[in-house]
Amino acid sequence: MKKLLVVLLALFAVGSLVFVSCKKKESAAAAASGSAPAAGEQTLIGLAMPETTVLRWVKDGASLKAEAEKRGYLAEVQFGNGDQTLQNQQIGNLLTQGAKLLVVGQLNDGVASAVADAARDKVAVIAYDRIIQNSADYDYYLTFNNFKVGQLQGQGLEAGLDLKAATAASPKYITLFAGSPTDGNAFFFYDGAMSILNPYIKSGVLKVVGPYPETSKDTANFQRIATEGWLPNIAKTRMENLLSGDARGVTLDAVLAPNDTLARAILEACVADAKYVNKLPVVSGQDAEAASLALIKNGQQYMTVFKDTAKLAEAAIILADQILKGVANPTVPGAVLASSIGLEAIGDTGKKIVKAYLLDPVNITQANWKDPITAGFITPEEVAANGLQ
Ligand code: GAL
Repeated sequence: MKKLLVVLLALFAVGSLVFVSCKKKESAAAAASGSAPAAGEQTLIGLAMPETTVLRWVKDGASLKAEAEKRGYLAEVQFGNGDQTLQNQQIGNLLTQGAKLLVVGQLNDGVASAVADAARDKVAVIAYDRIIQNSADYDYYLTFNNFKVGQLQGQGLEAGLDLKAATAASPKYITLFAGSPTDGNAFFFYDGAMSILNPYIKSGVLKVVGPYPETSKDTANFQRIATEGWLPNIAKTRMENLLSGDARGVTLDAVLAPNDTLARAILEACVADAKYVNKLPVVSGQDAEAASLALIKNGQQYMTVFKDTAKLAEAAIILADQILKGVANPTVPGAVLASSIGLEAIGDTGKKIVKAYLLDPVNITQANWKDPITAGFITPEEVAANGLQ
């Protein structure tokens, strides 16, 4: 009898060991298939940001990580240092680590191959702030209304030059810069600005010095005013060449600059030119960077566009959370679907129309330069470092 009891206990022990190991294999298999994290394992969200040269991306990365961790996810941020090959390697590593969703701020179309790898692994991708062109391997894009960003830049120059009161008898002179041709946003920024400025150019009130693409569809001329990789030194050199070349015989009244890093580079070139020592051109911008808020405060830069990347990051993780939970039609508070306002084209990747969620940008001039500080977007350290008290 005693022997029978011992055998039964032994059989029960072996049986329970077999059961536990099967359960573990089962949950590991479920995790690998993407259906659910293994018991006790947190879901990893991969965050691939393009660079750190333009400060906003550093803030994006930090905000995205914080928002993901706040909701119980693991999050890892990688910065591509302006190199798409490097970013693709980073995305590959995140996939190897078992990321279940990727938030990607691309550098150029080369990212599409990494997005294809994610799709192969059934990992969802959110195109973050910049659309991923030539890919049918993802479904979601989240950004600001970039056409409106450009309109705000155009309206800033319209106001700064008082174009509504100007005449063709005494025209104003402007030169045009665009963002990187590798960045889909740059085309929407430019077209938004030119939707405001073109009527003044057509009426002769505003004259363009240098290349003039009426819209970004004039590819040859757009490429001539575009700034590869958004690199400030490229913009500064081009501005210096304009000042000693096409603009030598005129005094420029304005420059269309697509973001703050380029605006400051352009202003540096102007400050070094005796012609502008008493009156700098009216210069636009974008990103509400602290260094540019200081120039706006003292009247050297005319305006910028505040895109609260903390809100963009929060929206991205709210969207990611719904995607990971299998919600069919995710909604994002504070964002509008581009298709619902007739801007479906913003989600056109060239291979499919993805769901594009748009947040609203805010115009910043000398009248409200403190708003990004009040919003907490500018840190106390940046306030101190840039004399923004
Ligand atoms: C754009 C982005 C802008 C601007 C630029 C440089 O795609 O929307 O905020 O900063 O990149 O990084």
